[in-house]
Amino acid sequence: MDHQNYIKKREGIGSLFHEISTEDLPLQKIDIEFNYELFYTGRQAFKFILDTISDTHTIGKIWMPSYYCQHVTRWVKKVYPNLYFYDINPFKFDQPINVNDFASENDVVLINNYWGLSDTINKTSKYPIIVEDHSHGWLTKNCMDSRADYCFASLRKSLPIALGGISWKPKGTIANNNNKYLIDKPFYEAFDKLHDAMKAKAQFKIGAFEIEKKDYLKVIDETEDFLDINHKIVKLRAQDHDLLHRYLYINFLAYKHSNLNIIYKNVMSVDFMKVIKKPDYTTFGLIILFKNKSLWSSLRSFLIDNDIYPSFLWPDNILSEDWQFVLNIHVDFRYNKQDMLYVSKSLNTWITQVKTTENRS
Ligand SMILES: Cc1ncc(COP(=O)(O)O)c(C=O)c1O
Repeated sequence: MDHQNYIKKREGIGSLFHEISTEDLPLQKIDIEFNYELFYTGRQAFKFILDTISDTHTIGKIWMPSYYCQHVTRWVKKVYPNLYFYDINPFKFDQPINVNDFASENDVVLINNYWGLSDTINKTSKYPIIVEDHSHGWLTKNCMDSRADYCFASLRKSLPIALGGISWKPKGTIANNNNKYLIDKPFYEAFDKLHDAMKAKAQFKIGAFEIEKKDYLKVIDETEDFLDINHKIVKLRAQDHDLLHRYLYINFLAYKHSNLNIIYKNVMSVDFMKVIKKPDYTTFGLIILFKNKSLWSSLRSFLIDNDIYPSFLWPDNILSEDWQFVLNIHVDFRYNKQDMLYVSKSLNTWITQVKTTENRS
């Protein structure tokens, strides 16, 4: 393994994107063939869809997956309180979701594309109305060829932007009258603050600037808190619309695809850790699953000690499955082959330690 050439990243691996200009991304363009509308957040994009449906249809129940981002569930409940939940295992992809088993004609069902691996719905009846969330599968084939009634995604998970959301209706159009939305100064300030944090991270990365980690993390936490309490759709400023648009046609999935292949080739396979993947699909990140919470926690600490910051998608979800503790390691456009070899080597070091301890006991 040629990880010896790895140069440690000042900013570590993971956490918030730094600002990067489109010229610094080796251009891999993608066509987007559907008509879309842009928003500041995935939540606002979803609300826009629910508002659009409500214009012509009385919504009975809104069905959300039991395993989902709890911040978003709470937010949706504030704007549409008639939420119900259906059971799902987010790590198993062999069974279709039979929406007619629980939803009725007037209902809306939200289906999440888990980690980019969920199949798009095969609709067998006009109702219930299906909305798919492709936040973790942006640009995957199920996102691009969705057969749902409506789709949305949070774009800040894939594009180097402070905030962003997108809605579309596969094989149709949804009209957005941006002029009817709120002009919201505190919201714009929150966007600018986060954008400044991304710029500061870019400077820090090249050694031109020092940032206090705690100040920087505070900005991220404050923005999340702010998004939690802001329940209106905010009018996109022209400059922010342009910014989102500039990154929208870059194939961010292609970077993940080649990065993941390096890791898949190099990480040892063991029975106490499962890598979630599917042939011909590209996952959101390196998704690792454990049965044993102490192993999960041990790997998490080990990675952080080695400047790799995994995310946990998502806290507060409870699964009644053996394999339920998940870590996501970032493999996006920020990283190259050396970085991925470093991640592989770190994982192998931890695996070897666990195996040695197991053999001793
Ligand atoms: C799967 C999923 N959908 C939607 C959202 C909401 O996106 P945003 O934060 O842009 O509103 C999130 C997370 O925040 C998410 O994880």
